[in-house]
Amino acid sequence: MLKLTVNGKARTVDARPDMPLLWVLRDRLGLTGTKLGCGMAQCGACTVHLDGEAVRSCVTPVSRAVGKQVVTIEGLSPDNRHPLQLAWLEADVPQCGYCQSGQIMAAAVLLREKADPTDEDIDRCLAGNLCRCGTYQRIRAAVHRAAELAAKGGGR
Ligand code: FES
Ligand code: FES
Repeated sequence: MLKLTVNGKARTVDARPDMPLLWVLRDRLGLTGTKLGCGMAQCGACTVHLDGEAVRSCVTPVSRAVGKQVVTIEGLSPDNRHPLQLAWLEADVPQCGYCQSGQIMAAAVLLREKADPTDEDIDRCLAGNLCRCGTYQRIRAAVHRAAELAAKGGGR
C-alpha cells in the first residue's frame, strides 16, 4: 500500500511503486481528467503537479509522488474557477478537449511563476503540450486573459 496526497486529500492505494502515476490517478483513484496520450513523455496530455511542478505522470513512477502534493485538473481549484478555467471557457478554447487538462496544468505553473507572461513565455512553457486540433492560438489568448483575470483578483 502507498500513501499519497492527491488534491489535498490523503489516499491509500494498492499499487506497485513503479506503476506510472497516471495509471494510479485514473485507474485506482478515478481521476480521469488527466489523459493518456503518448505514454512516452512526448505530448503533455498527462501533465499534473507534483509539489507545484508540472510533471508527465505517464512516465513518473508513483513512488516519486509519495510524501509530495499531487494536484490534478480536478484539484486545480475548489470550484473550477481558477483564472485559467474561466478564461478557457470565455475563449471557448477546446476542440476535442483531449489535450486541454494538460495544457491548463502546464499553464498554471507558468502563471504562478510569471504573472504577466509574453507570447514567447507561453509558447516556451507549452511547447511540449501537443494539440492535434491546433488550438494553439486560442490557448495563447486564454493564458493572457487568465493573467488579466488573476491580476483583477478573478477566479481562484
Ligand atoms: S501521455 Fe504523458 S506525455 Fe503523452
Ligand atoms: S483540443 Fe483536441 S487535441 Fe487539443
